[in-house]
Amino acid sequence: MKIVKVLKKKIENKDLIVGVIGLGYVGLPLSVLIATKGYKVYGFDIDKKRVNQLLNKQNYISDVDTNSIKKMIENNKFIPTDNFDLLNMVDIIIICVPTPLDKKRKPDLSCLYKAVKEVSHHLKDNDIIVIESTTYPGTTNDYVKNIFSKKGFNVGQNLFLAFSPERIDPSNKNYTVINTNRVVGGCDELSTKIVALFYQNILEAKVTCVSNSTVAEMSKILENTYRLVNIALIFEFAKACNKLNIDIWEVIEAAKSKPYGFQAFYPGAGVGGHCIPIDPIYLTWDMKKKHIKLPLINISDKIIKNVPKNIVKKIKRILKLQKKKLKMANILLVGISYKKDTSDLRESPSLKILDILETKRANVNYYDNYVKELIHNNKKYSSIDLTNINQYDLVIICVDHSNVDYKYILNNSKIILDLKNIYPNGSDIYGL
Ligand SMILES: NC(=O)c1ccc[n+]([C@@H]2O[C@H](COP(=O)([O-])OP(=O)(O)OC[C@H]3O[C@@H](n4cnc5c(N)ncnc54)[C@H](O)[C@@H]3O)[C@@H](O)[C@H]2O)c1
Repeated sequence: MKIVKVLKKKIENKDLIVGVIGLGYVGLPLSVLIATKGYKVYGFDIDKKRVNQLLNKQNYISDVDTNSIKKMIENNKFIPTDNFDLLNMVDIIIICVPTPLDKKRKPDLSCLYKAVKEVSHHLKDNDIIVIESTTYPGTTNDYVKNIFSKKGFNVGQNLFLAFSPERIDPSNKNYTVINTNRVVGGCDELSTKIVALFYQNILEAKVTCVSNSTVAEMSKILENTYRLVNIALIFEFAKACNKLNIDIWEVIEAAKSKPYGFQAFYPGAGVGGHCIPIDPIYLTWDMKKKHIKLPLINISDKIIKNVPKNIVKKIKRILKLQKKKLKMANILLVGISYKKDTSDLRESPSLKILDILETKRANVNYYDNYVKELIHNNKKYSSIDLTNINQYDLVIICVDHSNVDYKYILNNSKIILDLKNIYPNGSDIYGL
């Protein structure tokens, strides 16, 4: 117990030196927050370009305040680096590297494994390790702990290890890393206690301790699977409403008036980002190995994956009414990122729509103030300006970004397919 007292004092006196591995949507805001709370933070990333951008006080994540990055770097509180030997300097290491799916849609834990291996070469007595990257239940207590044990460390005695899922919601103005409640599950009681104490010192939110790291890992997968399944349900209702000529958006608003038991989810171009389309598959993959079937997750995943394909079918029907074919039709996608007010393109459904349209030889352009240009399938695209919007056979509102002149789009487009209910009047098609 003596060690808990020593670490508690270090945490409270801000003497604890922090290392964050992976400076992306999760790791960068977290590093800047910890530094502004008075701790010294080493931010590690294998991407030299990102490290250099930060060292030049440039920002690449829109949710993070550029002035805070600048200030923390100038005050030597935040030190971005690709030199992993500096891990020797830190007392607590928080791992925030990507955990995507591979080409066969199986969990790709290579970044996490690489980061953990790197950490294992620099371990010291009483180091604290936290995994924030989303993964399937058991990763921390089985795989990660095992690597550290092989190096002669006893978790709970001379090393502390926990999983604490990140819940950041990029572009959410109300909830950011600082005020979003947190879950902490250690591999043992002492690890839970120490890691929870650390987060209590940097967050202005509730920290909930659970009985072990596996519960914490499963809680994160549950949160995102809950969203996947409910969004799939809304797409089914959208299909039924379309057939019955009912406005799905009005139906959702009506259901929302119930003060309990209903949470609103909305249709759109599909589902993207690094979480909802991916995290539930980590669980189904793990369960499949254990001969357990989770059909609700599988069918939800299938429904969501089919959304862009169904949208293209609708586009084809709209064009047919104008006696036009998809081939050579001029189509404009408004919003190319995966969701509102972010530049994040990962798993973006707009890109999936673009892919299908291009295989059908349509001419596709996009407009997105958050994504001025992008390279997709080795082809370069740039956001167009809207001056010639009336030349498009169809304009599709894929994302409801807030910095768009929707009135101008409405007044100058031939036909609009509005997937985000920007122009609520009971129909998603305008101009026919
Ligand atoms: N983006 C979100 O909204 C979100 C929300 C909650 C949880 N998560 C989870 O957090 C984790 C990180 O996601 P993200 O969105 O921040 O990813 P990201 O791609 O934005 O950033 C990850 C960073 O890690 C770096 N990196 C990769 N391998 C590395 C290694 N071995 N050592 C050091 N750096 C390495 C990359 O260069 C990149 O800069 C994932 O597991 C994700 O599921 C993401």
